[in-house]
Amino acid sequence: MRAVRSFVRREGRLTAGQRRALDALAGRYTLDPAGGPLEPAAVFGRHAPFLLEIGCGAGELLVSLATARPEQDYLGIEVYRPGVGRLLQALARQGCDNVRVLASDAAEVLEQRLRPESLDGVYVFFPDPWPKKRHHKRRLLNRDVLGCIASRLKEHGRLYVATDWSDYAAAVLEAARQVPQLTNLGAGAELAPRPRWRPLTRFERRALDAGRPVIDLVFARAC
Ligand SMILES: C[S@@+](CC[C@H](N)C(=O)[O-])C[C@H]1O[C@@H](n2cnc3c(N)ncnc32)[C@H](O)[C@@H]1O
Repeated sequence: MRAVRSFVRREGRLTAGQRRALDALAGRYTLDPAGGPLEPAAVFGRHAPFLLEIGCGAGELLVSLATARPEQDYLGIEVYRPGVGRLLQALARQGCDNVRVLASDAAEVLEQRLRPESLDGVYVFFPDPWPKKRHHKRRLLNRDVLGCIASRLKEHGRLYVATDWSDYAAAVLEAARQVPQLTNLGAGAELAPRPRWRPLTRFERRALDAGRPVIDLVFARAC
C-alpha cells in the first residue's frame, strides 16, 4: 500500500481530566500500539460483530453506537491524543465495555494489525479534507487505502463515508470504482442518504454553518 500521511502529529493541549483519563483508563480501553494482528475474540472475550471507526475524534459516534448496540464490538483509531482522552472519559462515563481504542495511524493499523475479512463495518466520517490541491495526496481515502479497507471487510460488510468536501467525495467515488471488491450502494449520483444513527459532530455542524452540504457514501464488500 502506498504510504499516506493523512495527519499532522499535533499533541494539542491535554486538559487535566484528559491526561488523567489517558493514564487511568489506558489499561481498560486502549490497545498496545505495537503488536501483532488483532484478534477481536481475544480482545473482547467473545465472538461478536466487529466494527471500526477511523479518525474517531472525541468518539461521539463510537459512544453512541456502542451504547445503543451492546451486542457489537468497536475499535476506534485516532492519532490526536486530546481526542482519545475525551473518548476515554466518555467511555468510562457510559460504562461501555465493547469499545477499544488504538492511538495509531489508521493506514498502518489497517495494513498491519487487522486481518483480511475481519470487519463487519468501517466508518470514516469527516476525514481531514486537505483542501489545497498540492495536499490532496495526503487525503486518507485514496485507492490503496480503500482497497485495504475492502480486503479487511467481511463479505457484505459496509464502508460508510461522509464528507463536506464535494471534490473529496468525487475522488473517493472515482477511487472506489477502481476497487473491484467495493460496490457503491448509493442511488442518485451514487450518493447515499444520511444514516439516522450518525450523530451531528462539531465537524458536521461547522460544515453546515459554512453552507457546505454533507455527502454520504456507502459501499459494500462484494463477494
Ligand atoms: C475532521 S476530524 C473528524 C472526527 C470525527 N470523525 C467526526 O466526524 O467528528 C478527522 C480526524 O481524523 C484523525 N486522523 C486523520 N488521519 C488519521 C490517521 N491516519 N489515523 C488515525 N486518525 C487520523 C484526525 O486526528 C482527526 O481527529
